[in-house]
Amino acid sequence: MKRVDDFRLQLGRHELVPIIVGGMGVDISTAELALEVARMGGIGHISDAMVQDVSDRRFDTDFVKEKTKLYKHNIDNSDKSVVQFDLGRLAEATKLHVGKTMQAKGGAGMVFINCMEKLTMNSPRDTLQVRLNSALDAGIDGITLSAGLHLGSFGLMADHPRFRDAKLGIIVSSVRALQIFLRKNARLDRLPDYVIVEGPLAGGHLGFGMDWAQYDLATIMTEIAGYLKAEQLDIPLIAAGGIFTGTDAVSFLENGAAAVQVATRFTVANECGLPAKVKQEYFRASEEDIVINTISPTGYPMRMLKSTPAIGSGIRPNCEAYGYLLDGNGNCAYITAYNQQILLHPDGKNISVMDKTCLCTHMRNYNCWTCGSTTYRLKDTTRRLPDGSYQTMSAEHIFRDYLLSTENHVLLPD
Ligand SMILES: Cc1cc2nc3c(=O)[nH]c(=O)nc-3n(C[C@H](O)[C@H](O)[C@H](O)COP(=O)(O)O)c2cc1C
Repeated sequence: MKRVDDFRLQLGRHELVPIIVGGMGVDISTAELALEVARMGGIGHISDAMVQDVSDRRFDTDFVKEKTKLYKHNIDNSDKSVVQFDLGRLAEATKLHVGKTMQAKGGAGMVFINCMEKLTMNSPRDTLQVRLNSALDAGIDGITLSAGLHLGSFGLMADHPRFRDAKLGIIVSSVRALQIFLRKNARLDRLPDYVIVEGPLAGGHLGFGMDWAQYDLATIMTEIAGYLKAEQLDIPLIAAGGIFTGTDAVSFLENGAAAVQVATRFTVANECGLPAKVKQEYFRASEEDIVINTISPTGYPMRMLKSTPAIGSGIRPNCEAYGYLLDGNGNCAYITAYNQQILLHPDGKNISVMDKTCLCTHMRNYNCWTCGSTTYRLKDTTRRLPDGSYQTMSAEHIFRDYLLSTENHVLLPD
């Protein structure tokens, strides 16, 4: 009977353990988590979501304070179009986050950064260009493009000296999305080094509509593999979404996946950025507690715990401090939803906004409990402590369990 450890992922000249821990913003997939995965020979992701805030917390910088001060005069204004990111400061924050992580890296694995196109930051093209190129400047091993079609993202990096040497990949949820991406980038003569195929059981935003339940990962993998074969393209495919045990992983690896990307199991790792109390919420969750809704202003459906504090919260938009979801015209769907409520309740007190949420503030405060579909099984991966709480475990324990387990067995921590 095969185990994940019987397989290897070949990325160019690098041979890796075929386990990738996916990016989880905002700072849920921390540098510590990514570094542990790299140490053990796999690929760990950090995320550049809200990188200025992440830098302030990690390195005592003042990026957010500075930006808030600059735009303080606009806080009561419902028009946020003046709120812009200083591109120099954005580059600085990205280089700090990536640079410090890469300096600490050891082991045979790699650290990649997850870069979401939907973080439009009131100037989508410029800010994305800075984020991508600064990560390359700071020595990131690879960049995973996510949450968007990324039709121009390779082009934004094409002049960087590391464009052909860093590992660059994209997350897709359909063969169509991959076809469009490859067609748009054909002129650059640079294929992605890997393609992550994310099915509908994943955590975070979903690349499907609310009809997500009609799709399944294995079918999409087969479609994409068939397309690549017909086009004679040799790009490693990585399966993601709902892979809970080593046995689940082996079944994808035996069917042609070059690796798997996982995340939910690691949300309860000691190294994961979620606060201890939130990890207990994930452990306690039952299947009925996990919902998919459309409260994310990005327009993508998002999976989360029903008890998420972000649902129905009517806080004032905080774009002067954050503003990561402002589109190119300074709009965000939460601001629109919030303003509608303000019209009904002009005193601004006790308002509840049901259809959208202020994702920046709530993700930043770990109050949007996004999770994968298998979260309700996390309780079966650990022991209960005398006080009734669940024991968290090391990333190494979870990684090794994926690597070595057979017959859907999950090894409990000591
Ligand atoms: C808490 C959480 C946050 C996530 N955040 C992101 C993100 O910021 N960007 C992204 O591309 N994917 C995100 N994902 C998706 C994961 O990177 C991964 O592809 C997916 O969850 C794998 O499926 P699994 O959780 O069932 O193992 C997130 C997943 C979780 C559980």
